[in-house]
Amino acid sequence: MYTFAPTTGQPKPELYRELAQAAAAITEGEPDAVANMANVAALLGQFVPQLNWAGFYRLIGDELVLGPFVGKPACIRIALGAGVCGAAAASGETQLVRDVHAFEGHIACDADSASELVVPVVQGARVIAVIDLDSPELARFDADDAAGIEALAAIIATRI
Ligand code: SME
Repeated sequence: MYTFAPTTGQPKPELYRELAQAAAAITEGEPDAVANMANVAALLGQFVPQLNWAGFYRLIGDELVLGPFVGKPACIRIALGAGVCGAAAASGETQLVRDVHAFEGHIACDADSASELVVPVVQGARVIAVIDLDSPELARFDADDAAGIEALAAIIATRI
């Protein structure tokens, strides 16, 4: 049994430090990428408030393929460069989108989503996946969220 739980009411940097520690602990020594992504997706759903979707897309060839997540069923394949996820994978840069409806090419998988944060997972110089967070709140994500998810991506890059 795992009993990871976020401390309530703490500032975001501390919350993300706890999340990173939990993710590092739960994936340590486990070589199965799917198992690790599944547990990290579950931790994202548990630790990060105001989300309607959180999970992984893996870069396979020139498209992103849906990986483990929490939330409603989602688009399965996204071309490299398409949507917010494809932009993150193609550029290797975090995409922080305050209003998804203002993002040209945004792919609506869940009509509830209003803002989105997508962080590439990089192994060496290669993007291997993205972590995608969706929120029903406009402008839900800020630089602290981006930094926290980037730190998480760095920790799990060699475990997925
Ligand atoms: N909105 C994403 C698609 C994935 S879903 O949000 C789960 C995009 O534009 O790439």
